[in-house]
Amino acid sequence: MASDLSLSSPAGVTTRQILATAEVLASGGLAAFPTETVYGLGADATTPAAVAQIYAIKGRPQFNPLISHVASIDAAIAEGEFPPLALRLAQAFWPGPLTLVLPRRAGGNVCDLACAGLATVGLRVPAHPVALALLRAFGRPVAAPSANRSGRISPASAADVRAEFQDMVPILDGGACAVGVESTILACLNGRVSLLRPGGIAREEVEAIAGLTLDAPAPGIHAPGMLASHYAPNAGIRLGATDLRPGEIGLGFAGTLDGARRDLSPRGDLNEAAANLYGFLRALDAEGAGTIAVAAIPGHGLGAAINDRLRRAAAPRT
Ligand code: TXA
Ligand code: MG
Repeated sequence: MASDLSLSSPAGVTTRQILATAEVLASGGLAAFPTETVYGLGADATTPAAVAQIYAIKGRPQFNPLISHVASIDAAIAEGEFPPLALRLAQAFWPGPLTLVLPRRAGGNVCDLACAGLATVGLRVPAHPVALALLRAFGRPVAAPSANRSGRISPASAADVRAEFQDMVPILDGGACAVGVESTILACLNGRVSLLRPGGIAREEVEAIAGLTLDAPAPGIHAPGMLASHYAPNAGIRLGATDLRPGEIGLGFAGTLDGARRDLSPRGDLNEAAANLYGFLRALDAEGAGTIAVAAIPGHGLGAAINDRLRRAAAPRT
């Protein structure tokens, strides 16, 4: 294990806690840790038995590929084949809320199960200082989906993780997640760049750096895990609400929904709305509402990711 932990206590987490968590991962265990998007449920990505526990504890219906988190671009290059454009995107957005799906490099260390047997690997260098410190201490890729049970709302705080898994996994508490929605996933395959999942980096920002318009996923490129019903609270969800109906509880945006219990961003800031999204959904759900009525959210910038998650939350449950 690496010893260059120059950050003594990133975001209130001690070096001792980071090293202890790296030990848990090294012994094949699971641990939850903060990233700037959502909390991840991590396991050693190079060890199938460790990765298998992620699927088991989350109750994932099938072996969807997991994102492998690494500490640096160099560590990512050891796992994936980077075409020049992918390297440019990595240099522009890492560390940050971007995941690149690339061909697996021969001799890479991420195991088949983490890639769900595909010839591709999903890689991300997260920006949260606690995540980076953990990855540096561990020294190997960490497979981590969001730290929630399958189909449930993603956790944006340590308390959210505890509500999902109680004391089943150790949790590094690095505070609330600044971005609040999952990473943007891009596939860089066969000379094309396609958007597999809108997320914490806006499509517009990616297109500006890449100098091209992102493709829709090509037919045959697998975007598994993108189930229609996902990110679901217990309450029903009604989108595009302009008023509240009897029995509904309101989630507003920019002050547009009269009587709303909460407003994702009173000043209409989409970044603030993304950061508040999952926490507010959890809070309203906990009030026992039958239906959460959500105001219309603009579709540009992080609005694309917010609307994507809200549509999934509103979809008929499977
Ligand atoms: O922000 C995030 O991305 C969070 C934090 C913890 O990093 N992680 C996350 O992971 O959302 P997860 O497991 O929920 O998302 C994994 C998704 C898969 O469902 C799939 O859509 C895509 O990433 N993915 C990963 N590897 C892939 C691959 N090899 N080919 C295609 N899609 C892949
Ligand atoms: Mg998830």
